[in-house]
Amino acid sequence: MKLLLDAKNIRVLKRTNGDLMEIVDGVNLTINEGETVGLVGETGAGKTITAFSVLGILQPIGEAKPLWKVEGEVLFKGKDLLRLSKDEMRQIRGNEISLITQNPIASLHPLDMIGYQTGETLDEYKKAEFDEIMRLVVEHLGKVEIADAKERSSDFRHQFSGGEGQRILLAMALIRNPSLLVADEPTSSLDVTVQRQILELLKAMKKHFNLAMLLITHNLGVVAEMADRVYVMYAGEIVEHSDVTTIFKKPLHPFTRGLLGSVPRIDSDFFAFEGISGDPPRPPYRISGCKFHPRCKYATPSCKQESPELAETDSKHFVACLRVDEIRNLKKR
Ligand SMILES: Nc1ncnc2c1ncn2[C@@H]1O[C@H](COP(=O)(O)OP(=O)(O)OP(=O)(O)O)[C@@H](O)[C@H]1O
Ligand code: SF4
Ligand SMILES: [Mg+2]
Repeated sequence: MKLLLDAKNIRVLKRTNGDLMEIVDGVNLTINEGETVGLVGETGAGKTITAFSVLGILQPIGEAKPLWKVEGEVLFKGKDLLRLSKDEMRQIRGNEISLITQNPIASLHPLDMIGYQTGETLDEYKKAEFDEIMRLVVEHLGKVEIADAKERSSDFRHQFSGGEGQRILLAMALIRNPSLLVADEPTSSLDVTVQRQILELLKAMKKHFNLAMLLITHNLGVVAEMADRVYVMYAGEIVEHSDVTTIFKKPLHPFTRGLLGSVPRIDSDFFAFEGISGDPPRPPYRISGCKFHPRCKYATPSCKQESPELAETDSKHFVACLRVDEIRNLKKR
């Protein structure tokens, strides 16, 4: 598989009251062409901020508020996105990398017709004939299964359901034929039946366009079904990373085990329904040693002092835990 995106040692800091507060701490993440990579973790772990840093949509320090500093390298097709000019980045965003988020209806403009909004992102918009733009818009709205796409392209956002709104955002994302789609909780605001339809549509679109996808979600069922590889994030760091089968069948980090154990299962006695005690930490973290130690039932005094590195414990299975070898031998969580 060919490497598409290679994010190296990403640190994201936010300026608050003059201080720089670390939100993402040294994240490494790769995405291959056509691959779906899941990014999971509790609320506030830094998943969205990681994705936004890759997309270059955090307002850099020195410009209008909010003020963010992003360090590291984000190589996309060999170019470092963190070192491109605003214009160069604008070309990549939308053309090469697109974003869909969890509030589709709120993401659409209330006063512009849907067809106009869908076509507006095309570079050719100003140059091409109106008829040609509308042909492309209707074609893409049809691809995402908006019924009567031609007639409905002159409707406004309040005339669509949440599921249809997500389809429209997807049409907007795909109309410029990107190679990477960042989907941030694409189904979390939708009811289960519509979630299923959107997931099926995402799968079909991925195949049709040979899209790679960074899929950010709390929903482990969605990850199990969609992702090829998974990164587990805790308090701004990646704590475990492997292919999806290994993460679900042989999780090694106590946080990943707790996350999987939070989902009721009737088919396995390996994961009792137990969850993770305590609340997700908020930045600034200021937790010594392993950031998970206040909530970890395996923590020892050394976990409070020593910060574990993300290391390859088995082939292509990376875990950041000082006690990984002992935990691996435990039969149950
Ligand atoms: N605009 C912002 N201003 C200040 N702090 C922010 C902002 N956005 C996020 N943060 C902080 O950064 C941390 C990471 O936020 P982020 O949105 O990336 O979390 P997340 O993992 O995507 O959570 P969720 O699953 O709830 O979407 C949060 O704890 C929050 O405190
Ligand atoms: S390093 Fe210690 S505290 Fe951290 S996850 Fe491993 S056992 Fe738990
Ligand atoms: Mg988020």
